[in-house]
Amino acid sequence: MTTDIVNNTRPAILLVGASRGLGLAMASEFVKKGWSVVGTVRGGARTRLHDLADQHPDRVEIHLLDITEPDQIAALRDRLAGRQFDMLFNNAGTANKNQGETIAEVSTEEFIHLMVANALSPMRVIETLQDLVPASGLLGIMSSGQGSVSNNNNGGHEVYRGTKAALNQYMRSFTARHADDPRAMVLIAPGWVRTDLGGPDAPLGVDESIPKVVDVLIAQLGKPGLRYLDREGKTVPW
Ligand SMILES: NC(=O)c1ccc[n+]([C@@H]2O[C@H](COP(=O)([O-])OP(=O)(O)OC[C@H]3O[C@@H](n4cnc5c(N)ncnc54)[C@H](OP(=O)(O)O)[C@@H]3O)[C@@H](O)[C@H]2O)c1
Repeated sequence: MTTDIVNNTRPAILLVGASRGLGLAMASEFVKKGWSVVGTVRGGARTRLHDLADQHPDRVEIHLLDITEPDQIAALRDRLAGRQFDMLFNNAGTANKNQGETIAEVSTEEFIHLMVANALSPMRVIETLQDLVPASGLLGIMSSGQGSVSNNNNGGHEVYRGTKAALNQYMRSFTARHADDPRAMVLIAPGWVRTDLGGPDAPLGVDESIPKVVDVLIAQLGKPGLRYLDREGKTVPW
């Protein structure tokens, strides 16, 4: 089991957006490593996280959260009051329906939807829930290599790219506002992975990305300050 940090029992992660895809795989990987997982799903439908919870009833707990609903983030904060997590990680995110459309083509409505889902709401999750993470813990967000401004030489996925670049910028501002914060903060780029969002042409399977992502996150515990890292633990140019 991974070294305990907070409770002298099992280390614990609050993992937002764990119903499927990369978030579900992260939940499974943390359980494999001996962690407790409090995972969130939205809506009342049964998900594969529920299957994981059935297999590990003492280790996986599920709460409801749509990150675009600030009242739901606040309600989750209230429900979890008094508890502590070694990691708070926001995985929840989405892509525009037509990922090929440019900033010249996207509707204002779709642009706002994506910015709210991928930039504003993950930051609201961090802002509202961060008190549940002690000084020894980590605040993390699933970013993307496409959030790198420096690496954008070929364009593509313009609207999505912009939301992840904005997310990175907001997390840097958060870190600047918390200059003396001893906690580790991580924006992670998992690589292009075959999920509903990544699509069937992505070069990586979930198993080729997520175990590495989880190892990178665990390795950052105890290292204050913000890092933008890929699944190998290498810094992504901002
Ligand atoms: N796949 C890739 O190649 C790739 C690469 C770089 C970064 N990422 C990032 O990785 C994260 C996960 O992506 P994925 O590939 O696993 O996509 P996915 O299979 O489409 O899963 C998206 C996850 O986010 C949740 N979610 C979306 N909007 C939400 C909201 N408003 N509130 C709460 N949960 C919400 C979904 O929940 P529901 O089941 O309720 O919809 C689902 O659990 C995203 O942030 C994505 O941008 C993915």
